[in-house]
Amino acid sequence: MSRIAYVNGRYRPHRDARVHVEDRGYQFADGVYEVCEVREARLVDERRHMARLVRSLGELRIGLPMPLSALSVVLHETVRRNRVRNGIVYVEITRGVARRDFAFPPPGTTPSIVVTARSLDSAKAENTAAEGIAVITLAETRWARPDIKSVSLLPNVLAKQAAREAGAREAWLVDAHGFVTEGASSNAWIITAGGEVVTRPADHSILSGISRAVVLDALAAKGLPFTERPFTVAEAKAAREAFITAASQIVQPVVSIDGTPVGDGRPGPLALMLRREFHRHAEFT
Ligand code: PDD
Repeated sequence: MSRIAYVNGRYRPHRDARVHVEDRGYQFADGVYEVCEVREARLVDERRHMARLVRSLGELRIGLPMPLSALSVVLHETVRRNRVRNGIVYVEITRGVARRDFAFPPPGTTPSIVVTARSLDSAKAENTAAEGIAVITLAETRWARPDIKSVSLLPNVLAKQAAREAGAREAWLVDAHGFVTEGASSNAWIITAGGEVVTRPADHSILSGISRAVVLDALAAKGLPFTERPFTVAEAKAAREAFITAASQIVQPVVSIDGTPVGDGRPGPLALMLRREFHRHAEFT
């Protein structure tokens, strides 16, 4: 089936979908994005993802090129045209096309918008969850505002590649004080030997993950205590369980960190329970 992308007002065949060479997203990574899970052809937590998109745009003083109601139509239409039942929808908004100059382009420059959607193999994701994933740790090299979901992702790209070359699925980034910030494309969690569920507070040092918020809701609904505090790599390696959260992966158990098995080296029961329960605490549109 041929794929379709939405580019600045038009649905185009994916192979012909292009942005201008002077798009500021291309030249400066001057843009933001969101990734929503698609499940049974519906968007998961669209409202919260769009609220975060608006926040990211606001932090960078980029305008929203269309009302959220119209964007919602485009997201759903892109999912429909690509016949995605289970997968992801991606939206990117940049500061637009202008002659290359570091400072903002002239007022009135229209932001660019691209929406794509693709299917993901749910069976494969379940197999991954049943096995658990390996993570490595690396020094944090990103800028001071990872809370903005910017397309400026070079450190994340390098971290993910380093993970892949080490036979791992994710890299956890470690700040100057030895605390884990988050994964290259996910939030990081541990369950200590004492049973405390721990994740870093959503300050400027991490992306405030929507899946993270869903898991916090799920924990609260189950009456399971959790603490939002930084944790060290040593604490993570000594943890009973560990897992990651992201829209494209929901909850994935972590079974090793830098080659050290977490717990008994198999996916932990709480992580698997949170994965199973996840969508009961998400919103569908
Ligand atoms: N990544 N932290 C980072 C750095 C991320 O890139 C992501 C998501 C998350 C988790 O956020 P959420 O739960 O809202 O997806 C945390 C997306 C999926 C991506 O870049 O593909």
